[in-house]
Amino acid sequence: MSRRTLRPVFKRLWLLAPVATLGLGCSSTWSCDKDGVYPESFRIADIPSEDGGVSTADTACEELCRRAAYHGGPPCSFSRSSESLPEPDEVNCHVMYICEGRRPEGLCSDGAVATGTPALGALFARMAHLEAASVPAFERLADELASHGAPEHLVRAARRAAKDEVRHASAMESLARRHGAPMPELTVAPFQARSLEALAIENAVEGCVRETFGALLAGWQARSAEDAKVRQSLGAIAPDELMHAELSWAIDAWAMERLSPEARERVEKARREAWRDLEHDASTSHLPDEVARHSGLPSADLARRLVRELASELMPGALA
Ligand SMILES: [Fe+2]
Ligand SMILES: [Fe+2]
Repeated sequence: MSRRTLRPVFKRLWLLAPVATLGLGCSSTWSCDKDGVYPESFRIADIPSEDGGVSTADTACEELCRRAAYHGGPPCSFSRSSESLPEPDEVNCHVMYICEGRRPEGLCSDGAVATGTPALGALFARMAHLEAASVPAFERLADELASHGAPEHLVRAARRAAKDEVRHASAMESLARRHGAPMPELTVAPFQARSLEALAIENAVEGCVRETFGALLAGWQARSAEDAKVRQSLGAIAPDELMHAELSWAIDAWAMERLSPEARERVEKARREAWRDLEHDASTSHLPDEVARHSGLPSADLARRLVRELASELMPGALA
């Protein structure tokens, strides 16, 4: 994939993003757990039934979640608020969102915030955490590139990217705080020296796939978010992210020339799997409509189509 391929593809896909119409107001709440899944619980008796009466646990939980808050009905489960209750009295609607960037090896924290944090705040806190995690990812990458004898312009670009990510984390932290969420703690295990093949595999997965899609999402949000502050922040971040995506592909081209055919095949295999994982994550994402509108993030169906479109341009056949 030539670096010159990326900009025209992004420009074409960004033009598909709906331009925001004005509208403000928030928010529902959810609590966080691992893997970007956020259960929000509702008392079944508080959810109106179709005929205006009271819902019961006889109704399918997807239907209850749909009535409670979520268009389409996300994955869900029943629970009891007390051990002594014979029947479930709560439904848990599991909300997932797609939020992409370059994660460092050894990332131990997940960007989770406390139960009861407003939904938009929790989303931006997660984004801020991912931006902050990208700082050590690029610092390590710059050091490793230097130790593997990479050209100076790649090393310098990786150091510049680390500085960009500091700014991005700060911008996302401001959005998180504005919507009632603190900056999540970031924990990354100490790095060990690794081979060029290991570097290339991480760069293919986290840079050429995840961060590249994250760059596309940033531009999409800059166009579609109803919240003007979000559009402004993501509008400043998107061009940097596009350069980071281009850097990933430039590093890929440099590393692949130096690897054996067997090692190159392992890098390509990891890249193919990363596209498949990303497609799965996109198609199972689910946000409350209000959060999607304010943040400008695409729906699950649209996110999946964007992943497929991007993969077909950058790695034809990966998602065939
Ligand atoms: Fe970033
Ligand atoms: Fe980035």
